[in-house]
Amino acid sequence: MAEPDAEQSAREQELVERVAASFAGADDERLATVMQSLTRHLHAFLREVRLTEDEWNQGIAFLTAAGHITDDKRQEFILLSDVLGASMQTIAINNVAHADATEATVFGPFFVDDAPRIENGGDIAGGATGQPCWVEGTVTDTAGNRVPGARIEVWEADEDGFYDVQYGDDRTSGRAHLFTDDDGGYRFWGVTPTPYPIPHDGPVGALLAASGRSPMRAAHLHFMVTAPGLRTLVTHIFVRGDELLASDSVFGVKDSLVMDFEELPAGTPAPGDRAVEGPWSRTRFDVVLAPAD
Ligand SMILES: [Fe+2]
Repeated sequence: MAEPDAEQSAREQELVERVAASFAGADDERLATVMQSLTRHLHAFLREVRLTEDEWNQGIAFLTAAGHITDDKRQEFILLSDVLGASMQTIAINNVAHADATEATVFGPFFVDDAPRIENGGDIAGGATGQPCWVEGTVTDTAGNRVPGARIEVWEADEDGFYDVQYGDDRTSGRAHLFTDDDGGYRFWGVTPTPYPIPHDGPVGALLAASGRSPMRAAHLHFMVTAPGLRTLVTHIFVRGDELLASDSVFGVKDSLVMDFEELPAGTPAPGDRAVEGPWSRTRFDVVLAPAD
């Protein structure tokens, strides 16, 4: 498409200024700032790609389809934000690196409040299928002080890549919470993480397919760690060697979150008093919490 001449550019710019000015009177100063910036970036995008009217219609149809498939269990707009990297960018902006504090990553759509409590050394699987995996570590602050009583929420998919909320039968499995002991240590059994696709039967899935992108997420285990006076950490750990690390569909992988999962053959004595049949794995994840803002 031909570049606009000076007169056309001036006409387009005049509209940008008029729309931006229309938000200047908002009572909420932050709303004015956000909407004026959104206006300028949106118009810059429209002008840069010289959006056609057909493409505008396609965009409206896409957003309409995203709205129609969204309900209280399916959130297509979060998926869209995720695959555009907007979720990770927002997390990056709001979790500025602090000393050696553990890095944050996407929360995802599968967290559930009120997951059962387990004691240290207990099992979060609750019937979720998969190879047993022993996870242990400590929670400290950035000065290296152990944090007793930190609340750790963990949740993960089963070996087929499904979270309990996707079974459709109200069962609770593959999730729990526990607290660090007096030494700031924690330990639990889960299942070895496996890769799974984000829901891809809607417009976001169609966008990924049209773009030659995979819906697969690298295998991971979700953590949320909270303790008084310290910044809440929402993160995952990933499995070193997983071939999907470089192409995670929501851009959630950070090198510092990739952990060694040691594979142990059947017959290897397991920690705690659990009798494990068959092979199992183990990993260590030491959490460092930044000070609260
Ligand atoms: Fe997940």
